[in-house]
Amino acid sequence: MSDKFPIFPKECKSMLCKHLTQEVYQGLKDKKTVSGFTLANAIQSGIDNVDSGIGVYAGDTESYEIFAGLFDPIIEDYHGFKTTDSHQSNLNPDDLKAPNPDPENEYIVSTRIRVGRNVANLPLGPAITREQRKQIEADVSGSLSALTGSLAGKYFPIEGMSAEISKQLIEDHFLFKAGDRFLQSAGLNRDWPEGRGIYHNDEKTFLVWINEEDQLRIISMQMGGDIAEVFTRLVTAIGEIEKKVPFSYSKHLGYITSCPTNLGTAMRASVHIALPKLSADMQAFQAITDKHHLQIRGIHGEHSESEGGVYDISNMRRLGVTEVQCVQDMYDGVVELIACEKSL
Ligand code: ADP
Ligand code: ARG
Repeated sequence: MSDKFPIFPKECKSMLCKHLTQEVYQGLKDKKTVSGFTLANAIQSGIDNVDSGIGVYAGDTESYEIFAGLFDPIIEDYHGFKTTDSHQSNLNPDDLKAPNPDPENEYIVSTRIRVGRNVANLPLGPAITREQRKQIEADVSGSLSALTGSLAGKYFPIEGMSAEISKQLIEDHFLFKAGDRFLQSAGLNRDWPEGRGIYHNDEKTFLVWINEEDQLRIISMQMGGDIAEVFTRLVTAIGEIEKKVPFSYSKHLGYITSCPTNLGTAMRASVHIALPKLSADMQAFQAITDKHHLQIRGIHGEHSESEGGVYDISNMRRLGVTEVQCVQDMYDGVVELIACEKSL
């Protein structure tokens, strides 16, 4: 780990290299949080991976205060959220206006909405100890295993899972990949695969990742474009889990997550959608996604490519907007994308 002001290559476009000025660096380089997390820890991923979009991770809630000189401008840059703004949550499905935009199943392959959550009063993944991580796995998987009805399912630890099963779960878009280099440099893959795993119901419409980038990733997904149904299931699941697991939440930053892009709602609502004609003109495609604050990803997760004209379209803003607004952003954009694809 370097204890000098990092020099980034000219082509580096990360928010880290944009906002880590000499002045910010000098002011923060000797500070440490309660969990012993330093500026060097926070910026390691962006230093190792100069193609990062962001490049920083927090080790605990306190990182966002102690290293605010760096995190605040990045948070404002990504979410358009100022230090004087406040966050508000709204998880009421009745407030969402989202009738299925593709009832004939011509464009939308599948819908997925996830939130990140971390356990209150513990460090985040980048600073957690091995024992704390194992304790979270035991507590959370125990609580999940007590769920009933359509949320009832089983916990599958990664440790001991056959290569064949994990490969299939990843290909089917249910499980996270191993060895992500951004997470690796952030300290999030320490002691891999111990303490990590996936819980899911039989239909695999409700899933929880344990101890990946965040301690919990609560996921609702299904084939087709019934976005409201996916949101409603997610809200029910969050409510059930919250009865047993206390989540880390701040009035200003909402749900606390290890990556500043996920703060606030920690919600990413996406569809896998076939847009073969529109995507032939990336500029026109992006004009629509920009207008609705959406991000375009490939279909094997972040940093992957599209296949056969199918893209992952999701909300980009997560902080300073409610959960309902996150889904509404995605929905409104998808309606316009489908109309445009139809017209071509
Ligand atoms: P995140 O968990 O932050 O949303 P990724 O972009 O890495 O991160 O996606 C995780 C997994 O979820 C990947 O396998 C991806 O293909 C899958 N996924 C995302 N959106 C959808 C969707 N709408 N339908 C099916 N799978 C999806
Ligand atoms: N650290 C990576 C980057 O800066 C990912 C950032 C957003 N994605 C995430 N999974 N947190 O490009």
